Amino acid sequence: MSLLARLQSKSTEVATTAEPAVRQEPVRQVTAAPEETVIPAVPKPVRPAVPVRKKAPEPTDEYVELKNLTLKHILKERKNGDVDDIVTELDEIIADILKENDHIKATENLDKLKEELTNDLTGYGPINPLLLDENVSEVMVNGPNMVYAERGGKLELTDVTFRDNEHVMAVLEKIVAPLGRRIDESSPMVDARLKDGSRVNAIIPPLALGGPTITIRKFSKDPFTIHDLVRFGTLTEEMAEFIRACVEAKLNIFVSGGTGSGKTTTLNVLSSFISNEDRIVTIEDAAELQLGQEHVVSLETRPPNIEGKGAISIRDLVRNSLRMRPDRIVIGEVRSGEALDMLQAMNTGHDGSLATGHSNSPRDMVARLETMVLMAGMDLPIRAIREQIAGALHVIIQQSRLKDGSRRITNITEVQGLEGDVIVLQDIFVFRQSGLDENGKIIGKLVPTGIRPQFYERMEYEGIHLPASIFVEKE
Ligand SMILES: Nc1ncnc2c1ncn2[C@@H]1O[C@H](COP(=O)(O)OP(=O)(O)O)[C@@H](O)[C@H]1O
Ligand SMILES: [Mg+2]
Repeated sequence: MSLLARLQSKSTEVATTAEPAVRQEPVRQVTAAPEETVIPAVPKPVRPAVPVRKKAPEPTDEYVELKNLTLKHILKERKNGDVDDIVTELDEIIADILKENDHIKATENLDKLKEELTNDLTGYGPINPLLLDENVSEVMVNGPNMVYAERGGKLELTDVTFRDNEHVMAVLEKIVAPLGRRIDESSPMVDARLKDGSRVNAIIPPLALGGPTITIRKFSKDPFTIHDLVRFGTLTEEMAEFIRACVEAKLNIFVSGGTGSGKTTTLNVLSSFISNEDRIVTIEDAAELQLGQEHVVSLETRPPNIEGKGAISIRDLVRNSLRMRPDRIVIGEVRSGEALDMLQAMNTGHDGSLATGHSNSPRDMVARLETMVLMAGMDLPIRAIREQIAGALHVIIQQSRLKDGSRRITNITEVQGLEGDVIVLQDIFVFRQSGLDENGKIIGKLVPTGIRPQFYERMEYEGIHLPASIFVEKE
């Protein structure tokens, strides 16, 4: 492909190598991801202090001049040349430039120079290596001088930098243009999915004070399985066996937790237990779920266009999905009025539905669902809402990111029903913390409470037999 064509290409993708990703056991460190912050009611945004970074040595003036001359030369002389040819001939091109400009003697950093030029020509500039790195799951650009990457669950400041805001904008342009989106002062925010499934969000000045800001969540080619989660200590084998039985018995399950606690990952694992015979409809803001079954229809919401019209919400999609004859409905994240439609669906024969929501405990989740149903604007009495919730939901799985960065399922809770005005919840499994070790790592145990769920019989009836021993704490 010619350089010009490549630069303007509509099919630019984040290049990915073909080898399967090597899963890294997430590093559990106190410094992992930042704690969830409550946005303070301060009138002016407080800019965080620039953290200390292992700074890369400043390039010399000669190096910068050589790079600029080479780029200029390529853009002028080799505009219609094949990118791959140009990359293989970089040695010669640079040698020619050095010959023509004998005041430049910077020859010690040629490998670095070639790498940077290749990144600028074929990829997304300075962040290209991060996007190609299998171990990096997220890339965050906070203006030209601060680029963060998440590696194995740990967020770190990298030594990657851009020249200036314009450089970031140029790369951003290259990312969003092939997706048919634009980003400029009149539409300063973009949320989009790259061809390889990665999510990209960009927001630029004047909205972003620190410069053009890009957040890329890379698509993971092989998502965590139940075995991974057991290996990480997120849940025990008994709990795994239990939730598999819950999915197979077509119970309605809600995964609750904070941002980044692993809800979507757990939802994906739950979905993997759905029978291959079922017709599954998934509904998400950003398609993240990766189901292995054959009969899957994936739906994704749409943001409003520039005139603010044409938005399609989760609620619209939930309603539409009911006319699609689904056996299972899987909803990425329930935030608002769609809760009502979801509960109604669960109560009217769409058993075995799965969803996630943002909250800190099973009890809190139930309270939030009440609020969300109110957002549907139907003016339902609170008692009716509780009846809907108690009738629809069978299980709440509470997931948390603990202080040491590890992810745990802290409660598997049965929704038993309504007693008076109160929704009765009963923990079946809980995380029991016993202390901290000398490294600040949390010591604790996931244990059954000893109580068998009321739906145990329903499971037996469905032909799913769970040994009663999994509900008893082992010595
Ligand atoms: N059980 C787990 N153990 C370790 N890391 C996890 C676990 N579940 C998810 N992660 C990692 O945590 C990050 C956020 O997970 P995700 O499922 O998207 O969370 P949420 O949907 O709650 O925001 C991802 O990088 C994911 O790979
Ligand atoms: Mg999520």
